Amino acid sequence: MREAPNIGCTNDAGAAAGNSVGRMTGSAASPGERDEGKASSAADLVASVVRPEIRALSAYAVAKADGMVKLDAMENPYALPGPVRARLDAALARVAVNRYPDGGADAAKAALRRALGISDRQAVLLGNGSDELIQIITSALARPGAVMLAPEPSFVMYAMNALYAGMRFVGVPLSTDFSLDLRAMRSAIEREKPSLVFIAYPNNPTGNLFAARDVEAVLHASPGLVVVDEAYYAFAEASFLPRLAEHPNLLVLRTVSKVGLAGIRLGYAVAAPEWIAQLNKVRAPYNVNALTQAGAVEVFADTAWIAEQASAIRAERARLEAALGRLPGATVFPTQTNFVLVRVADAKVVFDGLKARRILVKNVHGWHPLLANCLRITVGTPEENDLLLAACAELCR
Ligand SMILES: Cc1ncc(COP(=O)(O)O)c(C=O)c1O
Repeated sequence: MREAPNIGCTNDAGAAAGNSVGRMTGSAASPGERDEGKASSAADLVASVVRPEIRALSAYAVAKADGMVKLDAMENPYALPGPVRARLDAALARVAVNRYPDGGADAAKAALRRALGISDRQAVLLGNGSDELIQIITSALARPGAVMLAPEPSFVMYAMNALYAGMRFVGVPLSTDFSLDLRAMRSAIEREKPSLVFIAYPNNPTGNLFAARDVEAVLHASPGLVVVDEAYYAFAEASFLPRLAEHPNLLVLRTVSKVGLAGIRLGYAVAAPEWIAQLNKVRAPYNVNALTQAGAVEVFADTAWIAEQASAIRAERARLEAALGRLPGATVFPTQTNFVLVRVADAKVVFDGLKARRILVKNVHGWHPLLANCLRITVGTPEENDLLLAACAELCR
């Protein structure tokens, strides 16, 4: 979900969000210039007060997937194990929904700290998904003239949030093998002095894990905050969470969305208390609802099931990579996530053919030149993956 907001003029969200600010022309008069006594239509009013770059956007459209094999949004295909579900249900039944939630989400944070072994020297902030945390971080750092920098292609919500907050977005193209182009990153950081850098680790939509030494180089070169977004940590072999004490400008961002809990909308940020104290001022007072907080306490009390499901998904990922790689004309890119990026001869033909067979994947062709004819396929259950592979075999002869 959310990776391909239609940003009006182009589907390449990163470039458009970064470049369009200030370039679009608002044709409407300012509010004070409207004719006295003449009733204005809502459209006129909108045109006079809503920023042109916002008017130029289209709201993100989530593809309808009823009755389809849903392999487009990097969800975990497995339900919660029975005992975890029972504990969750019991905890939710006890929530006093007539009361506001705990604004500080103390119990949920304590459970998270215990589960991840987060040291007392680090602070934690919870969000309504990591999407909200990206928004909070961006709005806290969006001083006039401030720059957000990220490699491209990457998670498009970084550039979108820069646009919402009026921050200038600078995208630095990845190398053709999707590794960080360190020379280009260093010179862009030197030139732009970004207040905020986002590195998705592993990266979406390419799926690869950047070299840790390249991310470290970015941390050393950056004059501001570097967010290492570990949305796919459960499927990767590395993390910067244990490295927080080494880097005062590092914030590690995570979500439970990819490990089986996309519906509860919970993300977390871990960083030095000085950063979290500032971000805490920007969030809405009750940003994480009481049901999610109660659920988080149960979920983090025992995380063994998360690791077990992630390991089953990694095994299926390996099977998908091998089978997709045998399709004529297909190139499979290395992945440390719960999805596989594959280049085919014609992404639209394969996407449409899959859709006609009730299988939904993501066609990322057109998002960025490096993604030409690429499909992003979420790893499903073994049965779902069998259906996908059979359909691909028909479509990629
Ligand atoms: C790299 C990355 N960061 C953040 C998110 C947002 O996750 P959440 O569901 O927690 O908002 C996604 C979702 O696809 C993602 O790919």
